[in-house]
Amino acid sequence: MRNTVLYSLLFFLCLGFWGCSSPQPQYRIGVSQCLDDAWRQKMNYEMERELLLHPDMVLSRRIAYGSNELQCAQIDSFIAERVDLLIVSPNEAEAVKPAVTRAYRAGIPVIVADRRVTGDEWTAFIGGDNYKVGSLMAQWITSQLSSLGRRLGGVVVLEVAGLPGSTPATLRHQGLMDGLPEGVEVHSVMGSWYREEAYKVVSEYLATQPLPDLIVAHNDLMAIGAAEALQNYQFSIPIMGVDGINPGLQAIVDGKINCSATYSSRGDMVIATASQILHGEPFVRDTVLETILVDAKAAYPMLKQDEDITRDLETLHLVQTQTESKWRQMQFDRIVLSVFVAVFFVLFVATLSYIIARQFKLQTEIKQDILPQLENMQEAIQLSRRDEAFADRLKQIVNEHLSDPNLNVEYLGSKLQLSRTQLFRRVKAVAGKGPLDYIREQRLIRADQLLHTTDMTIQQVALELCFSSAGYFTKCYKEYFGHLPSER
Ligand code: FRU
Repeated sequence: MRNTVLYSLLFFLCLGFWGCSSPQPQYRIGVSQCLDDAWRQKMNYEMERELLLHPDMVLSRRIAYGSNELQCAQIDSFIAERVDLLIVSPNEAEAVKPAVTRAYRAGIPVIVADRRVTGDEWTAFIGGDNYKVGSLMAQWITSQLSSLGRRLGGVVVLEVAGLPGSTPATLRHQGLMDGLPEGVEVHSVMGSWYREEAYKVVSEYLATQPLPDLIVAHNDLMAIGAAEALQNYQFSIPIMGVDGINPGLQAIVDGKINCSATYSSRGDMVIATASQILHGEPFVRDTVLETILVDAKAAYPMLKQDEDITRDLETLHLVQTQTESKWRQMQFDRIVLSVFVAVFFVLFVATLSYIIARQFKLQTEIKQDILPQLENMQEAIQLSRRDEAFADRLKQIVNEHLSDPNLNVEYLGSKLQLSRTQLFRRVKAVAGKGPLDYIREQRLIRADQLLHTTDMTIQQVALELCFSSAGYFTKCYKEYFGHLPSER
């Protein structure tokens, strides 16, 4: 019975917890982000929004904060956790490649996003056209110089580069160099993608070098950092950044920097591709996203659009948070209900089992102990009834023939229709003695009555009751009553 209770308890608890769980996402996706700036946050939001269309996937995001070692360790932990797919935006191509390769070789599909890794051990790539970004920078520089009426010879451009080991920095530089007309000198400083770093290196540059004619930064954050460094000088220098989202757009609208090149993050496309890979559907292996120039005219409407998107994303976040909180409440209620149902069921099963077990026990006891006793008693009653009737009849026959010398065992047997043996057994059973002793006892009792109630002598009484002699009667009388008949 204890097992029944235990199993039913387990069954109900499982049922309860099963009922409590949300529709379990089938696929766990590890996202390894190299940084956590505005551009990455936009990408994350885009992923989350797209994820609403793919409820069978769940993201687990880790940020490396610009550290190759941390990023490799985080990727390795995703491998150990056996995620179903990995999305990596590598900090630096060569340094992060070993971890990406390990994941790929462990059979985990890998989508490389934005920055590439070297080699081709990855499943899909989605990212911007960084070489084109560099070319756009070169085009912008050329157009600026001609609009300023400057000759190309002796023109100096200050390039604020991203982290050198990352493919966008390499390709943007390449595109820039390839696209520039001869005679333009490019000085490069490394801002490593950070606004503060760009401020520092540009300040250092400006402190030791003549002012450059133009500044191109590999992203808007560094362009803003460069503009802030320039504030200490009276000249204004045209500055171009890259990304074309906030805070870059705002900086263009405010006139802090001049333009930017769009650099799409397309987190939505990354998630859609992940879904295609996981469901075995066809997907594009290498997607290179378009880039366009954002000048002061384009920046304002884009800024408005960007603000709308940000608002949408905030609403999305709010809805998600509210849904999660409601979901948690529902889960709690269901757990309470499940526990209640489980306890109720266990009590019900326990009571039922107890009652059934008791019924069985009582029935068995009745069958084994009480019924036989009852039967014995009934039998005994019937026997004693039969015996009583027999005793009455015996007594009656014997008493009617006390003076009859023919009253003996044969006579009694024929009267009671019993054989000698049966007669002996039954007379013994009811009277405790054999038939002859019984007859003699009855004659002695009658003799005693006669001696007490009549004037008959001992001789007469002995004769009347068929004793062979008065002496024999006296002997029997003494044996039975313990005194002589004359002593009465
Ligand atoms: C964001 C960022 C962008 C840049 C890209 C290059 O982390 O620095 O500003 O365009 O990464 O990978």
